[in-house]
Amino acid sequence: MSKRNINIIGAGLSGLSAAISLARKGIPCRLISVQPSERAQSVMAEGGINAALDTMGENDEPLNHYNDTLKGGVYLADENAVWNLTFGAPKTVEWLCTLGVPFNMKGDRLVLRNFGGQKKKRTAYSKSSTGKILMSALIDEARKYEERGMIRRYPHHRFEELVIEEGRCAGVKVTDLYSGDSGVLYGAVLLCSGGMNSLFPEMTTGTAVNTGDVTATVFSQGVELANLEFIQYHPTTAAIPGKRCLISEAARGEGGRLFIYKDDKPYYFMEEHFELGNLMPRDVVSREMAKTGQQVYLDMTHLAEENWERLSDLREECIRLLGTDPKTEYVKVAPGIHFFMGGIYVDEHHRTSLEGLWASGECACQYHGANRLGGNSMLGAVFGGLTAAEDAAGYVKALAPREPEWTSGSGSRLLYDYGVEEDIASILRESLGIFREEETLRKALEQLTGLEPEEMSETRRRRWLLAKATLMCALNRRESRGAHTRRDYPERDDEHYGKTSVVRCSGSEVDLTLREIPRRTVK
Ligand code: FUM
Repeated sequence: MSKRNINIIGAGLSGLSAAISLARKGIPCRLISVQPSERAQSVMAEGGINAALDTMGENDEPLNHYNDTLKGGVYLADENAVWNLTFGAPKTVEWLCTLGVPFNMKGDRLVLRNFGGQKKKRTAYSKSSTGKILMSALIDEARKYEERGMIRRYPHHRFEELVIEEGRCAGVKVTDLYSGDSGVLYGAVLLCSGGMNSLFPEMTTGTAVNTGDVTATVFSQGVELANLEFIQYHPTTAAIPGKRCLISEAARGEGGRLFIYKDDKPYYFMEEHFELGNLMPRDVVSREMAKTGQQVYLDMTHLAEENWERLSDLREECIRLLGTDPKTEYVKVAPGIHFFMGGIYVDEHHRTSLEGLWASGECACQYHGANRLGGNSMLGAVFGGLTAAEDAAGYVKALAPREPEWTSGSGSRLLYDYGVEEDIASILRESLGIFREEETLRKALEQLTGLEPEEMSETRRRRWLLAKATLMCALNRRESRGAHTRRDYPERDDEHYGKTSVVRCSGSEVDLTLREIPRRTVK
C-alpha cells in the first residue's frame, strides 16, 4: 500500500522546498508538474531574496523587514503570515546556503543589495540570476530524495481537478501528457502552481505555462480566492515576442536611474519627489512612469565595473534579447505585469478554505497585500513551501493510505495547450491597467457577462469565472491602494476598504465579501 499521502502541484521553488522538507521528515510525496523543474518560472527570477541578515553594518533586523513588507503592501497583508515570513527569512537563506547556493559573498559575509521599498540592504543574490541558482541547488537536493524514493516525480502531468469527498480535499486528478493516461492520486494536496498569466497573454514577464488554470479550477470547485484586483506592474520591462522581458530591479539597486526627456535633457523624475527615488515600491514607480505619458529610459551608463560584475548576466540579456548594451546605451522601459498579489486565500499556515488543501508561492495570497516588495517573492516561495509542508505533515501522517487509480489513455503524446481566450483577455487588458475607473470596469464586467454562452469548454468557463471575479474585486474596491489605482477614488479608504477582498464561486455566480485583515497575534 502506497504511503504517499501528499501531492504537490508545481515543481518550482515552492514545490521543491516543500517536497524536500517532507522527505527530510520521512514523509514521501508526489511532485507533479507540467514541465520539469529546470523550466519552472522560478528559474527566471532574477534580483534576489530578502532577509534581514544585517551583514552590511546597517543595523537591520527582521522587525524592519516586517514593517517594510506591511507598508509596501499598504497594510493589506496577513500580519501573522508576514511576521513568520520576515522573522523566518534569515534561517531560510541560511538553509539555502547549507545547500550550497553560491550567493555573492565578500570573504565569509553574504553581500546584500538594495531593493525597492526598503531602506536597508536586505536582498541576498547571485548576480542577477538568483532564481536559476537557487533552483539548481534545490533540484540537486531533491534528487537525493528521489533516489531514495521519498520524492516521486510526475513530470509532464497536468492537473485536472481536485477530488473532494465529504467536504475535504481527498486527492487530485491528473493527466500524463506523454501517454494520455489519467490518474486519481489520493491524499492531501499542496498547490504551488504560480501566477495567472493566461489572463494577460503577452503582457507578463512570467511564463505562459503558468496559466492560472489550477487557481481557476479550484475556484470553480468552491475554494476561496482573495485580492485578485492587485496585479503588480513591474516598472522596468521591455516587449519581446510573446512576453515582457524583465530588467531586474537589481539594475536600480546597483544605481540605475529612470528618466524622461524634458527640454531635450534627461529628467530623473523619481529622484525629484520621492524619498527612495528610483527604488520606491513598484506600484509607486510604475504609476509615476505611466503619469509621464512618455517613453521612459533606464540609465545605467554611469555604473562602475564592480556594479557590472554583479549585473553581467543582466547586461548579456539586454544585448541578446533587446539589442541594447546598457553599459553604453539607455534602455527603453515600460511597466509590465510581473506578479499577482492575489490568488488562493490562505492563512499563515498556508491552509486554504478547503480542509486537506494547502497553497504556497505565487498562487497563494497572504504575504504581499496590495503590492509585493521585490525580493519577497522568492522568499515567499521557499518559506511558504517549507511552512505548508510543516503544517501538512501532521495531517498526512494521520491519513489512511489509498492506492492511486490509473486509466489508460491513447498512448500518444498530448500537446499541452496553454490556450488564450483572446476575447476575455482583451476585456481585462482594457480595464485592468495601472489606472482604473468605475465606468471602464463596469463596462468590462458587462462585456464579460455577455460572453457567457450556453456551452463553454471547461477551461474557458473557469478562466471566465476567474476573470469575472477579478473584475468584481476591482470594481468593488472604491479606493486607491497599492497596485489598484482608481482615478475616480484617488484616496486610500481604510475605514471601508482596509480589508481583504474574498471571492467564492457557486455555479456561475461569484460572491464577494470584504474580510478583516488577520492582525498580529504571534510574537
Ligand atoms: O526585478 C526583479 O529582479 C524581480 C524580483 C522580484 O520580483 O522579487
